[in-house]
Amino acid sequence: GKLKLVLIISVLLNLVEGSRIINKTRRDPRPFPKGFLFGTSTAAYQIEGGWDADGKSESVWDHLTHNNPCRIKDCSNGDIADDSYHLYKRDVEMMRELGLDFYRFSLSWTRILPTSFPDKINEAGIQYYNNLIDEMLKYNIEPMITLYHWDLPQKLQEMGGWTNPHVVDWFADYARIAFEHFGDRVKYWITINEPREVCYQGYGSATNAPAISITGYAEYLCAKNLLVAHAKAYRIYDKEFREKYDGTVGISLSAGWIEPEAEKDTQAAFDAIQFEWGQYAHPIFSETGDFPPIMKERIAAKSAEQGFYRSRLPEFTSDEIEMIRGSSDFFGLNHYSSSILYKNESTAGIFEQPSFYDDIGAASYQLDEWPVAASSWLKQVPWGFYKLLVFIKEQYNNPTVMITENGFSTSTGLQDDARINYYREYLDAMLDAIDEGCNVSGYTAWSLMDNFEWMAGYTELFGLYEVDYNSPERTRMPRKSAFVYKEIIRSRQLDY
Ligand code: NOJ
Repeated sequence: GKLKLVLIISVLLNLVEGSRIINKTRRDPRPFPKGFLFGTSTAAYQIEGGWDADGKSESVWDHLTHNNPCRIKDCSNGDIADDSYHLYKRDVEMMRELGLDFYRFSLSWTRILPTSFPDKINEAGIQYYNNLIDEMLKYNIEPMITLYHWDLPQKLQEMGGWTNPHVVDWFADYARIAFEHFGDRVKYWITINEPREVCYQGYGSATNAPAISITGYAEYLCAKNLLVAHAKAYRIYDKEFREKYDGTVGISLSAGWIEPEAEKDTQAAFDAIQFEWGQYAHPIFSETGDFPPIMKERIAAKSAEQGFYRSRLPEFTSDEIEMIRGSSDFFGLNHYSSSILYKNESTAGIFEQPSFYDDIGAASYQLDEWPVAASSWLKQVPWGFYKLLVFIKEQYNNPTVMITENGFSTSTGLQDDARINYYREYLDAMLDAIDEGCNVSGYTAWSLMDNFEWMAGYTELFGLYEVDYNSPERTRMPRKSAFVYKEIIRSRQLDY
């Protein structure tokens, strides 16, 4: 009897000891810094629908999808999308379910200014956003507004869109109208979402609306005008609204990490970054207020070689440089994936874009072993996120970084373990960067729910909530990842 008891006790002690060892190899839950904010993001054209409701006019995306439907993978469009124009209360309910601190959404320019000029404000458009903002504030969810998420008024495009320098004033007027109407309640502002995609994909590679391809020229006009337009909107907020409303204004840049394959590739990877997204970050966040030196040099040299009388890259005036330098209260970062780059002299000297890698004599690739999303470009490389954040800290004097987008696409289905894995690994990498001294103030998951993924239509789904596009009421259902994200937000820590 006694022996049995001793045996049982020793087995129990062993079990306890065993679990202690197991717990030791597990990591402790990792807390997020005090005051760290969590949100989700969407964009008007991707979710709203109501493309011509209550006086709204056509944007470049309405125009492209209506006139050329099968440029989109599934020949779909955003005419109805998630119907958030009518279902915004359900959207806010989902934000409450998740326990979000804030929600990032964009304004549809043509809902507010259907005539494209500030002479006629469409009150129904203003009302829609007032309703959405007020509904969010009822439940203490902070609105974060993106003024421009790719849906340029088609009428402005017909006058050259982002390549016409007058776009600076068109955008500035639109921004002022938004600040005037919503600034009393909205404290977080993003001027423009992903300038690289707006300019390069819109006017260079033609893989986004307005799908114009004047490569090596139009996208640089766009880049210049866009930077000045952004800066002007920022200065307007500074001069006319900041004192009254005390908000914060930034820009969201899409930045992938580019890892040199070996030591000898370091400079080439750095140069590639300057062409990829440094062309927007450098003017705003460096001391120069201007395009990166490598870009100016290479494009000038190439233009001369081609016999042009001036560089295809336009110059900023000194006033513009003054205006652009420091024109962001935070670095809005949209980050998804990474690539590896190696020097490849044999391809050197062709063109900057679409294959500017050829110009700097380099090529890039992604590894097969990296888990891939439903979007072929989206491979899971959490350490790339870490390196990118450290790079931003070092390059731009440790600015406040707000992660304005990060996420993973899947196909339909509520069991989305791949997405959960992606979020957990990227949040973990972000915490590593914070430990390294990076000043990251918040994190935004893309996306609250499935939506129209531009050229991929509804074939690449990014939602924490699944949207049933076969149901007229566009039923939204939480995926497993929604519950995980909710728990991360509730506990303010990453549990292992
Ligand atoms: C970037 C864009 O801002 C957003 O509109 C898009 O849906 C996501 N990334 C995913 O590709």
